[in-house]
Amino acid sequence: MIKSLVFLGAAGLAAARVQFLGVSIAGGDFGCTIDGTCSLSSTQIPLKSLGGGDGEGQMKFFAQSNMYNMFRLPIAWQFLTATAGGPINETNLAKYDQLVQACLATGATCLIDIHNYARFNGKIVGQSAGGPTDDDLASLWTALATKYATNDKIAFELMNEPHDLDIKLWAATCQKVVTAIRKATNGKNTQIILLSGINFASAGDLVKTGSGEALVAIKNPDGTIENLMIALHKYLDADNSGTHADCVTNNTAAFGEAAAFLRAAKRQAIVSETGAAPNNTGCLAHFCEQNAFINANSDVFAGLLTWGAGSFGTDYLLSETPFFEGGKFINQPLTQQCVVGTFMASTAGVSSLMEVTTTPMEVTKDGASTVVVSAWLMLLPALLAYLVL
Ligand SMILES: *[C@@H]1O[C@H](CO)[C@@H](O)[C@H](O)[C@H]1NC(C)=O
Ligand SMILES: *[C@@H]1O[C@H](CO)[C@@H](O)[C@H](O)[C@H]1NC(C)=O
Ligand SMILES: *[C@@H]1O[C@H](CO)[C@@H](O)[C@H](O)[C@H]1NC(C)=O
Repeated sequence: MIKSLVFLGAAGLAAARVQFLGVSIAGGDFGCTIDGTCSLSSTQIPLKSLGGGDGEGQMKFFAQSNMYNMFRLPIAWQFLTATAGGPINETNLAKYDQLVQACLATGATCLIDIHNYARFNGKIVGQSAGGPTDDDLASLWTALATKYATNDKIAFELMNEPHDLDIKLWAATCQKVVTAIRKATNGKNTQIILLSGINFASAGDLVKTGSGEALVAIKNPDGTIENLMIALHKYLDADNSGTHADCVTNNTAAFGEAAAFLRAAKRQAIVSETGAAPNNTGCLAHFCEQNAFINANSDVFAGLLTWGAGSFGTDYLLSETPFFEGGKFINQPLTQQCVVGTFMASTAGVSSLMEVTTTPMEVTKDGASTVVVSAWLMLLPALLAYLVL
């Protein structure tokens, strides 16, 4: 009896909020535009030692203060190979790897994101005459998967924001890449792969573009769907571009539709990009509502990653780059309230935990003690699993 109650408690907690919380540590993508050209003179790998932002310090801070456990590390395809399908530029990969290692050092899962809009220099992968082939993309991912084969804290977002292309052909391209990655890692399915649909991976267009249907058909070579998830992006401005300061929606309609599709398909997604202007009161309200909704639907939304920090200044339109004052980092108010705040407040599963624990808990409004209680709660599943066994 007690054991089954304990098990219910763990299940309740798992459904309470997203498993992965974090932010893009951007800069490796700077200079990339939606036609898949990337001006490498603009690349700013977000490490101070490489002349970029202090991504290393930010990730440490975010992991310790915000409980972030996933960082997305965007990079230009051209930075890694000068030509599509060409040899890896080992000097550049070593620079990117410094960022990856700084991420891994925080204990977080690190999401490699090829930030090329399904294109290389204006041509669509597998769809433009004379453009990059499926094998060109597969060879890039084979090299990356081989390099990080032994680390299950590495995850792969095959491509940032595909758009204006044939979704069925694109899904076939992704299938080849998934097969290549799993082959490079001896058939183990333990690393997460994120698959992106068209209209810039739009959460609101997942169903109507046929992206959802095409992407859920992709399988691991062994026929399973283990650790194959969908990447969803969504902004709150009028045209969903993330280029305007005004927020016009809390996106619950879009994410609600995506959630219903995922639930019916028995699949999960990670919201790998969303963001809003940090000093805009309308944005604060809408963004907090959106993120509370994503947390409340964590059975299908496994992660919530915002945009962006890294080499962005604190004055960038959608900046989540923390301020550095008096020798320490301080969150942007938007980050504090709408990312950390909604995550902390999303404790729908706690009531079922309360039934199974006799430890008195006092969740106060005070930030510090909330952190302590929440950190303790995160250890509970392990403790409960131990008790069940
Ligand atoms: C690697 O790329 C850099 C520019 O990003 C370039 O200077 C260097 O020559 C390239 N190395 C090789 C081996 O192609
Ligand atoms: C989001 O906005 C809609 C429409 O304005 C509203 O009905 C809904 O309650 C909001 N959602 C949340 C979670 O506040
Ligand atoms: C938001 O306000 C802070 C404090 O005034 C300022 O430093 C920051 O640059 C502003 N951010 C934007 C995007 O305007």
